[in-house]
Amino acid sequence: MKILVTGAAGFIGSHTAERLAEMGHQVIGIDNFSPYYNIELKELNAKALSEKGIEVLRVDLRTDDLQKALPEAIDIIFHFSAHPGISNTSTFEDYFSNNILATKNLLDFALQCEKTPFLVNIGTSSIYGLEATFPEDVAPKPASWYGVTKLAAEQLVLAKSREGKLQATSLRLYSVYGPRERPDKLYTRLIDCGLNNKPFPLYNGSEKHLRSFTYVQDIVDGIVSVLDKETIVNGEIFNLGTEEESTTATGIETVETLLNTTIKVSAKPPRAGDQSRTKANIDKARKLLGYNPTTTLKEGLKAQIAWFEENFIK
Ligand SMILES: NC(=O)c1ccc[n+]([C@@H]2O[C@H](COP(=O)([O-])OP(=O)(O)OC[C@H]3O[C@@H](n4cnc5c(N)ncnc54)[C@H](O)[C@@H]3O)[C@@H](O)[C@H]2O)c1
Repeated sequence: MKILVTGAAGFIGSHTAERLAEMGHQVIGIDNFSPYYNIELKELNAKALSEKGIEVLRVDLRTDDLQKALPEAIDIIFHFSAHPGISNTSTFEDYFSNNILATKNLLDFALQCEKTPFLVNIGTSSIYGLEATFPEDVAPKPASWYGVTKLAAEQLVLAKSREGKLQATSLRLYSVYGPRERPDKLYTRLIDCGLNNKPFPLYNGSEKHLRSFTYVQDIVDGIVSVLDKETIVNGEIFNLGTEEESTTATGIETVETLLNTTIKVSAKPPRAGDQSRTKANIDKARKLLGYNPTTTLKEGLKAQIAWFEENFIK
C-alpha cells in the first residue's frame, strides 16, 4: 500500500510512519515543521524516519497547493497533523487553521484523487469535554478551542463518509506518552525536570486529575489495526487508550522512583479547559479491532526515560 502520513515529523505520526514501513508499506510523510514546539525535535524525528527510508516532505496543509505538493495514487491517508494541546500562547487562529482548514484542504485533495484514498482521521478524547469516560456515541462537550476544532475536523471527515464520497474513520486517542513525547506534555517535562534538577510547573489541582496514560506503541497498535478493515470501520469512531487510570500524582511518583530523585514542584494556576478525568472506554475497539493495550505505566516510562537520556543528556 502507498500511505501518506500527515504530521509525520511529530510525536505519534513519526512512530506510526515507522510501524507502517516495518509492515512493508510505502510511506510518505508530510509536515510543516510548525514552531508550536522546538523544531529541532521534529527534525530529529524526520532524520530517524529518513534513515529508515521514509521521506518527510515539507508541506503546509493550510496554504500549499496540495495537488502539486502531494504524491499521486495514494491508497490510505493517516491524518495526524494538528495544532495540539491546550496552550495559553496559542491563538484561536492557530487551532482553526491547522485543525479545521487544513483538514478541509486535505479532504479536497483526497476527493480529487483518481482513486479516492481511505482516510484515517486522528481525533482526541478532548472532544468529550472535562470528563472523557464515555463510549463513542455520547454527545461531545469539548471545553477548549483544541477540543472544539478537533471535533469539527472529525465531523468534516465523517460527513464525507456519510455522503458516500470516501471511506473514512476517526480514532480518538487518550493521553499518549513514550519516546518523542512533545515537550509541552507531562512526562517529557517531568523527566527533564527530574534529570536536570529544574522545578516542575504543576497546575493547581492537576495532581488529582485521572488519565488513561497510554504508551505510544499501544496507540500505534490500535491505529494500524484499521488497515484492511475499511468496510467495518467506515463512518465509525473508535476510542483508543488504556483502561487503566492513574492520577498525575502517581505519574510524578513513578518518574521519581525510576529516576531515583525527588522532583521539586512550582505551583501554577489551573489551566482553562484541562480535563479532570479521562478513562478510555474501548469496548468497541476491543470488539471490532481486537484492540488490547498492555504496556504498564512503569514499563512505558522506562522506555521514555531511556530515549530522553540518549538524546538530551550528553
Ligand atoms: N499526544 C497525545 O497525547 C494526543 C492525544 C490525543 C490526540 N492526539 C492527536 O494526535 C495527533 C498527533 O499529536 P502529537 O502529540 O503527535 O502532536 P505533534 O505536534 O508532535 O504532531 C503534529 C505534527 O503536525 C504538524 N503540523 C501542524 N500543523 C500542520 C500543517 N498545517 N500542515 C502540515 N503539518 C502540520 C506539526 O509540525 C507536528 O509535527 C494530533 O492530531 C493530536 O490531536 C494526540
